[in-house]
Amino acid sequence: MCGIVGYIGYREAYPILIKGLHRLEYRGYDSAGVTLIDDDNKLLVYKAKGRVQDLEDFVKDKDTHGTIGIAHTRWATHGEPSNVNAHPHYSQSESLALIHNGIIENYAVLKAKLINEGYTFQSSTDTEVLVQLIEYIKQINNCDLFAAVQLALNQVVGAYAIAVIEKGNPDQIIAARKSSPLVVGIGEGEYFIGSDASPIIEYTNKVIYLDDEEIAIIKREEDPKIITISNIEKTHEIKELELNLSQLERGGYPHFMLKEIFEQPETLKNCMSGRINVEGTNVTLSGIIDHKDKFINARRIIIIACGTSWHAGLLGEYLFEEFCRIPVEVEYASEFRYRNPVIHPDDIVIAISQSGETADSLAAIELAREAGAFVYGVCNVEGSSIPRNTDSGSYTHCGHEIGVASTKAFTAQVTVLTMMALAIAKEKNTINASRYLKIIKGLSDIPSKIEQILKLNDRIKELSLIFTYAQNFIYLGRGYNYPIALEGALKLKEISYIHAEGYPAAEMKHGPIALIDNEMPVVTIATNSAIYEKVVSNIQEIKARKGRVIAVINEGDETMKSLANHYIEIPATEECLDPLLTSIPLQLLAYHIAVNKNRDVDMPRNLAKSVTVE
Ligand code: F6R
Repeated sequence: MCGIVGYIGYREAYPILIKGLHRLEYRGYDSAGVTLIDDDNKLLVYKAKGRVQDLEDFVKDKDTHGTIGIAHTRWATHGEPSNVNAHPHYSQSESLALIHNGIIENYAVLKAKLINEGYTFQSSTDTEVLVQLIEYIKQINNCDLFAAVQLALNQVVGAYAIAVIEKGNPDQIIAARKSSPLVVGIGEGEYFIGSDASPIIEYTNKVIYLDDEEIAIIKREEDPKIITISNIEKTHEIKELELNLSQLERGGYPHFMLKEIFEQPETLKNCMSGRINVEGTNVTLSGIIDHKDKFINARRIIIIACGTSWHAGLLGEYLFEEFCRIPVEVEYASEFRYRNPVIHPDDIVIAISQSGETADSLAAIELAREAGAFVYGVCNVEGSSIPRNTDSGSYTHCGHEIGVASTKAFTAQVTVLTMMALAIAKEKNTINASRYLKIIKGLSDIPSKIEQILKLNDRIKELSLIFTYAQNFIYLGRGYNYPIALEGALKLKEISYIHAEGYPAAEMKHGPIALIDNEMPVVTIATNSAIYEKVVSNIQEIKARKGRVIAVINEGDETMKSLANHYIEIPATEECLDPLLTSIPLQLLAYHIAVNKNRDVDMPRNLAKSVTVE
């Protein structure tokens, strides 16, 4: 949520900042802005409502000279998207400019105090309050910028990743974070900051991940200094990035989402690589092995996540209960954190998150740790906050996911959860050897089966044309495919803006069946399973009410072919692995419907990729 980027060094800052903003645009895209310090040591601030391209168009014939600057792409929290609410924000005397990702929760109290001191405000943002506060503190204490930032942050309640620069001081950026991500890139005679490493990777692969309440003093030609808001000097390991540039480009695909859907055979191979042995006889996850007693003796598993990651968590419940015989609860992190949950020290809490930065998930983790539970992270972004705040974990290793609608991260999360269930079940002796081997074999075959499904892309595109103008959709699934019905519906609504609901198929007759008429497309996941016959009955019930059934079925299933109005045939697999296949046609269907409707698939309205605010 909001992307921030900064540069100080020997090159022209503007092109680096703009490129960085494009890379970070997935985090927020309702307005953007940039501040540079020019040769006369003046601050140049340019802002525009809209996309980064709108900012570029606005700045086209302006002075963009300077070797230091900060820039921001916004996802509005306080104040509508507009030029005035866009960042950077000036302080009253226009001597400071600040960018911010997060929320200053006590901004109203601070603002009232500043108004009392004669400050006036241009925007409706919480961010402007922070920059004014820093200026006020700097003036009354007659201190330098670092000291003023440190004092100001001690008054702030909320979340922030900030960067501040100062008129007359072209040699320094002050940056700080709490509960919002911030990375400092270390180049040769130049430094970068970013909300993630994507704006930095082209110039250096050496980075420092700031921790909460740390302030970085980044000066030209000096090593960065890191001091906490309580004034403790810190030393940080410089980490090497694993990101590569090709992950940040569309590579010939019209959208990142389509590229990411098509990457899944490869991403799942990467996810399993080194974890399933070459003979296909064993699964090893070091995060589990290192703490195997915890898992063997766990009283309960609580899975916390949001959105698509929560859907992966629901699948975790089916997997852990079936194979490990451990009771599982799956919670929305946002609910869990506020409902005074019962957490035991012998519970294991699994936090699932693509970004590793989701504010609600981080808060839920903190609660679980305070209660003494062992916390395990399943994350994609290496070095992000969740892996750094958990006791152990497994990365999903599916590469940078840029499309706002999560696709490849979801299937990688489900793959990790499946491997976890197998590894724990083996340690607990709750799975027999032949079943264990069968599922490992099934998992190893998933990438090639996804390749087969991806060949149906044109057929799914044709199908999408029939339903582009539907007003509503229902998605049905049972057992392991119930979470896929939820996920299919979420994919469709977030990128096409068509209202869609996912249900367990048998729930239809308890209310939602009233919605069925000849206008209602009902996407039904009807692959072979222990309850196949029951799904057939559920489809009959829909057909009897003239619903238009689009069924995802196994190859050669003649019964379903004759029953459904439209069908998508996919290969069969083990029942517990079916979601890894059934999710793919639903991703493609949502994608094509959204494209037919001319939606901005990679950056759907009102959304952002990384939800770092509550
Ligand atoms: C939907 C989607 C979101 C995220 C959710 C959690 O396609 O991407 O629902 O799954 O915001 O984000 P992470 O996984 O980063 O914690």
